[in-house]
Amino acid sequence: MPLRFLITQRLPPVAKELLVRQGEVTEFSLDRPISPEELVEAGRHCQGILAMLNDRFDSAMLDKLSELRAISNYAVGYNNIDIKQCSHRGIGVSNTPDVLTDASAELAWALLMATARRLGEAEQCVRQGKWAGWGPMQFLGRQITGKNLGIVGGGRIGQRLARMATGFDMKVAYVGRQAKQELERLGGVRMELKALLAWADFVSLHVPLTEATHHMIGHGELALMKPTAVVINTARGSVVDEAALVDALERKTIFGAGLDVYEFEPRIADRLLQLPNTVLLPHIGSATVETRTRMAELAAENLIAMVQGRRPRCPVNTELWEPG
Ligand code: DGY
Repeated sequence: MPLRFLITQRLPPVAKELLVRQGEVTEFSLDRPISPEELVEAGRHCQGILAMLNDRFDSAMLDKLSELRAISNYAVGYNNIDIKQCSHRGIGVSNTPDVLTDASAELAWALLMATARRLGEAEQCVRQGKWAGWGPMQFLGRQITGKNLGIVGGGRIGQRLARMATGFDMKVAYVGRQAKQELERLGGVRMELKALLAWADFVSLHVPLTEATHHMIGHGELALMKPTAVVINTARGSVVDEAALVDALERKTIFGAGLDVYEFEPRIADRLLQLPNTVLLPHIGSATVETRTRMAELAAENLIAMVQGRRPRCPVNTELWEPG
C-alpha cells in the first residue's frame, strides 16, 4: 500500500512536490482552515498529516485517525496538538522553528513601530479622505529611540527582536527561565515579570502557549504598566487575558496594543475592533514568501522522516526517537 499524506491547507508547492515522491497526497486547497469533519474525512486513511496551527488534534480527533503515524505542524507553536496523547499512541509530532525567526521578529518590530506611531489610525484618516492638512498636534505617538524594551520569553524570536532594538539605542530586559547569552551580550538584563512590566515602555510577548503562560498578562499585570506603555503580542492570543487588555485600552491605563494573535481567533472581540489605540493584524507573523516556502520544505521533510520511522529535524515529542 502506498503511503498517504494530507496537507490541510494550500501551501507553497514545494511541500507537495516532496511528498508526492513518497506516496499519495491530498492537498486541501481552499484558502480557509479545514473543518474537523473535513479533517476526519480526508485524514481517515492517512499515515502523515501536514497540519496548520488551527487544526485541532485532541484525543477525540486522534481516535478517528487510526492510521496516523505523524503530524508535521506548519508552525513553531504546537498548542493545537495534544502532545501527550500523540506520544501515547506513538504518533510523531514536529514543528518548524528557526526558519521563521526573522520574519516573526520583523513583524513584532513592525507592530511595535506602527502602534507607537499610531500608523493604523493615521492611515485610515488619509484613506477616508478626512485629512485636512498638516497639524502640529495630529497623531502624536510615542518615541521609540532610547526607550526600554521588555521581552517576555528569551527564545530565538525574542533574541532577534532585541538585536533590532539595539539599532534604536533601546535598553533591553527580558523574562526567561534561564539567562540567555545572546541577550546578555546585547546588554539585556534578566528580570522578573512584574519588575519588567513596571520598567518597560514596550512589552513584546514571545512565549509559547502552555498552561503556565495562559493569561500570563491579565488585569494585575496590566495595572503594573506605565500609562505610556505599548503591548505587542505576536505569540498566541491566550497568553493575554483579552478582556483585561480591552479594559486597560478603553480606560487608557496603557498607551496601545499591537496584536497579531487573539484569544478566540479568528473571532475578534467587538470592543477591541472599536479601539483606535490598537493595530490589529490577522496572524501574519511568519507570512513572507521566503519564510513560508522554507516552512513548507521543512514541514514536508519532517513528515517524510517521521512516517519512515526516522527522527525528524524538528521533533516535538522527542521521547519517541530516544533509543531504548
Ligand atoms: C507559528 O509558527 O507558531 C506562527 O504563529 C505562525 O505564523
